[in-house]
Amino acid sequence: MDLDKLASTAEALVAEGKGILAADESDSTIKKRFDKVGIESTEKNRQAYREMLFTTEGAEEFISGVILFDETIRQSTSDGTPFPKALEERGIIAGIKVDKGAKALANAPGETVTEGLDGLRERLDEYREIGARFAKWRATIIIEPEGDLPSEYAIWANAHALARYAALCQEAGLVPIVEPEVLMDGSHTIADSFGATSRTLHALYTELRDQRIQLEGTLLKPNMVLSGYDGPEQASHDEVAESTLRCFRRHVPAAVPGIVFLSGGQTDEDATANLNAINARGDQPWRLSFSYGRALQASALQVWAADTDEVAAGQRAFYHRAKLNSAARSGLYAPDMETAGVA
Ligand code: 13P
Repeated sequence: MDLDKLASTAEALVAEGKGILAADESDSTIKKRFDKVGIESTEKNRQAYREMLFTTEGAEEFISGVILFDETIRQSTSDGTPFPKALEERGIIAGIKVDKGAKALANAPGETVTEGLDGLRERLDEYREIGARFAKWRATIIIEPEGDLPSEYAIWANAHALARYAALCQEAGLVPIVEPEVLMDGSHTIADSFGATSRTLHALYTELRDQRIQLEGTLLKPNMVLSGYDGPEQASHDEVAESTLRCFRRHVPAAVPGIVFLSGGQTDEDATANLNAINARGDQPWRLSFSYGRALQASALQVWAADTDEVAAGQRAFYHRAKLNSAARSGLYAPDMETAGVA
């Protein structure tokens, strides 16, 4: 394993002012997103939509890497340039989602374990060959205080699988993004989120150590610690920042170069404002950035879907959202920037 190379890729992904675009929706997820805006999920439309995002002029000022799906990493721009190459040409690093989704965990009603380890070594070799330099594996952990969830069993089963994935990635020369997503849906309190996220991160970093992962060559992609979306009381951006940082300082080793949050169903504005509040608290042991799917794409998808021939309009919306999240990386975002400068 070339740890220096892995570490420099990880650092480049969290370079100052930059974050990751998660565009790795599986076929069923992108269909859900397209259905909402009245676009049919055909291979042609998926290619056109992703090309619109990836060829946005200037996005590389704010976007360090893009996570692709198996279909997408094999597609090309309309002039025939493979997507990974088109991204590389503008200094954006291509990554790949390699898990096969969260499946029901035996003996644990309501909980899941993420599958995809079988044959992973060979798949990673192929993805590296076609241009990927980092990978992503997402585990989902559900909070349900009435049912005593999450269980230790589900937390540890997922942590074990994340570490096995991470070890194979490093062996293949790919930076593993480990994503233990404690779901933010539900009516739980911010204290419940703090407890479940603490237990999840404790298990994850125990497994990563036990399975000999070199943390300098990894990134963490977590949820923020916040109130469940349906909870009666919603914590403020400042409270979210304080709880999130306290939780991470207790559990995430300083050797990890960066933490790249998922947006997980927050509104675009909340995802940006919470990241901003987190970064406004000054330097931390790790860089604190974004790896957003919905919160970077929602407005661009809506604008593009309204007239798919007007590629530039969707690109303007994407560029604007990326720029605001870039500002949030240094605590310099303000809500009045939402409307400034958007055509
Ligand atoms: P969201 O930001 O939409 O949660 O997507 C990020 C992601 O990659 C989830 O796995």
